[in-house]
Amino acid sequence: MKNNKLTTLAASALLATTTSVSAADVEVLHWWTSGGEAASVNYLKGKLSDAGVGWTDFAVAGGGGENAMTVLKSRAISGNPPTAAQIKGPSIQEWGDLGFLADIDGVAKQNNWDELLPAVVADVMKHEGKYVAAPVNVHRVNWMWSNPEVFRAAGATIPTTWDDFMVQAKKLQDAGYVALAHGGQPWQDATVFEAVVLGVGGADYYNKAFVEMDMDALNSDTTVEVFETFGNLRQFIDANAPGRDWNVATSMVIEGQAGMQIMGDWAKGEFKVAGKNVGTDFVCSAAPGTSGAHTFNVDSFAFFAQGTTAGTGAQNIMAAEILGTDFQTVFNLNKGSIPARLGVSRAEFDTCAHDSMDAFVASSSSGSLVPSFAHGMALPSAVAGAVVDSATNFFNSDQSAEEGAAQLVASMAAAM
Ligand code: BGC
Repeated sequence: MKNNKLTTLAASALLATTTSVSAADVEVLHWWTSGGEAASVNYLKGKLSDAGVGWTDFAVAGGGGENAMTVLKSRAISGNPPTAAQIKGPSIQEWGDLGFLADIDGVAKQNNWDELLPAVVADVMKHEGKYVAAPVNVHRVNWMWSNPEVFRAAGATIPTTWDDFMVQAKKLQDAGYVALAHGGQPWQDATVFEAVVLGVGGADYYNKAFVEMDMDALNSDTTVEVFETFGNLRQFIDANAPGRDWNVATSMVIEGQAGMQIMGDWAKGEFKVAGKNVGTDFVCSAAPGTSGAHTFNVDSFAFFAQGTTAGTGAQNIMAAEILGTDFQTVFNLNKGSIPARLGVSRAEFDTCAHDSMDAFVASSSSGSLVPSFAHGMALPSAVAGAVVDSATNFFNSDQSAEEGAAQLVASMAAAM
């Protein structure tokens, strides 16, 4: 009996210790599971460990994060959200409106985030005027990654317009290469669609149609032209594209089986992990027709309200670490993106990153800095879902451009 009592006491003491240790840890939901992504997230984990905060990994594989968001919803609904989750754009507001988020305004004020962050980034991190999320980077989505050796062998040149893309892609294909490395997953279809929208329609059309959801812009001939160009790409992907992960498509470019991939600059993280160098082994150029424009996609961690002081303390440490110059440098060197905050030296970054930094600044004054709708930065989530579904339905069918445009407009209108 006595022994039993002792065992129970010992067990509850152990429980108490375990609980207080885990309360000071962070459980972090993300979808960074490719080579470059894992290197990046491991750096964050190490930084927190140096600051005395343990890490429970809550990785849900699936590029673009759709799977992760589904899992997050079920955890939150059952009253057990993680400490922090990779949530972006207008979804941060949606989670804030539901009352799930904790504010980290104290840390933000102490560290002058309002001065350190460009307004376009800071605005998205706040809910009702208070910071509820911390930005780790700015990705540029309108990139094209090419293998120069493949182009040389095929006698082709890297295209800068969509018309020329069709000509050069044909040369690559005739020489036996896959012209466009692609993974047939809805978010990847939408990523390519988004590049076509910007390249064919320009930034004004992009903003009106895919940010402001303006029906006149959506119902215009430009939308049909966009679908024509997008449909012309169907012929340049290979038969094994359906279901392929984005990083596997990147490796087709790395290994010289394919000439090009249209993908955000997280792809650069894969070239880096493979030991490849920009300029000689791979080339980054703006997606056709989008030079100088910048489709931005800011990764950020939103913080969920915690029941304990230790939990809140760990969140504050995480938020402060994320905005540090050290973290923003190394994390982004691995991730392929650029720092989200000002005041970080450019010296260690490569020419692709410099191009992204320059385009970010120049496009914000010229009006061609646009939020990525394919990556949850531009539209309410229901409308974004309708756009992704329409793009993927079209790309994987033989719908005409007119049919594709009509379906897009109808499904966006229904989701508004
Ligand atoms: C995220 C990136 C991620 C990519 C592929 C994007 O939506 O912003 O951080 O690397 O998806 O998973």
